[in-house]
Amino acid sequence: MIADELARYPEDVEYAHKFIDRLKARLEERYVDPEQTLRDFHSKLHGLVKARFEVMADLPPELAVGVFSEPRSFQAWVRLSNGQNMVRPDEDKDVRGCAIKLMGVEGAKMLDDETQTQDFVLVNAPVLGIKSVKEFFEIQSAMEEGFLSLVSEVLNPFDNHVRCMFMLNKAMHECANLLECDYWGVGAYALGDKAVKYKLRTSRDAASEVPKSPDQDFLRQRLIADLDDGDQRFDFMVQLRTDPDEMPIEDASILWDEEVSPYRKVAELHVPAQRFDIDERRELNQRMSFQPWHATEAHKPLGGGQVARGIIYREMADFRRRRRGVEPHEPHPEE
Ligand code: HEM
Repeated sequence: MIADELARYPEDVEYAHKFIDRLKARLEERYVDPEQTLRDFHSKLHGLVKARFEVMADLPPELAVGVFSEPRSFQAWVRLSNGQNMVRPDEDKDVRGCAIKLMGVEGAKMLDDETQTQDFVLVNAPVLGIKSVKEFFEIQSAMEEGFLSLVSEVLNPFDNHVRCMFMLNKAMHECANLLECDYWGVGAYALGDKAVKYKLRTSRDAASEVPKSPDQDFLRQRLIADLDDGDQRFDFMVQLRTDPDEMPIEDASILWDEEVSPYRKVAELHVPAQRFDIDERRELNQRMSFQPWHATEAHKPLGGGQVARGIIYREMADFRRRRRGVEPHEPHPEE
């Protein structure tokens, strides 16, 4: 990551390092056998699936930037996950992750561990309610210290986190089918010299319901059945930041008003029918890393929280892979 970005956000960098120490200790405690180590957040994998990312033709100049600059097709991987930091039954309320990695992307990258990828890291909630990495760190720490500590942190009269807890709670919801969700990038990203937020819109109706006595992995089972049946499609959209006062970059807990600036479609994500529930994919999942800073400068993540995420994901992906004894892997289109 570019040194300038780190220098601009000293408090976020400081809390990123505090987070890393805490997350490493948590993984060491949880996985006594290091070879079993999973990601800290988004531990549970539903599926790592192959996809094609098709950029639309005739985009207006303000959107035809970076990977969207011309109509073309990128090979991609999509990792679908539950957000919690441990593997829990799918019926639990949670945030679901959808991380997309385009391959064969030319140009210099913000991080040097991958050379030809562009990632879009999304969840099925438009906001998580977290104002800053400091706030998220304080809540996570208090949660680990127990109920009383959490209550006193949340209600701290000088710096209370009531709004954050309320919004986090709202973001965690039931999910009946991963292919029937919309997903958002939550934080802001560059689009050349402009700023945008990302959204992935499902093409399906929300027809599924959570089963009466659900299997703990029913989301994966539905994904297997749906991808056995046929191809699936999502629309990838961006929302331009048109009003700097009402559309802040530093506080990702504030929604940008869609009446002022609607989401506009720039690409389609096609997930072809496939068999993905195989050991080879599960192993690849352990070797791969998705992160917002796997990006060209045209799509650079914006704001202090994103800088912190860049440092945390880089360090934690390396840490979990070292513990498992697997080599990092940047996938290529021809594989
Ligand atoms: C400061 C706040 C955050 C922290 C500390 C954090 C931390 C983490 C960590 C440690 C991982 C696992 C990385 C790895 O081992 O490869 C992760 C994954 C993930 N995070 Fe965050 N995260 C934060 C904010 C967010 C936000 C705002 C989003 C919204 C899009 C998000 C979405 C995801 C997703 C989808 C994954 C899974 C990526 C994959 O499939 O590999 N996170 N996060």
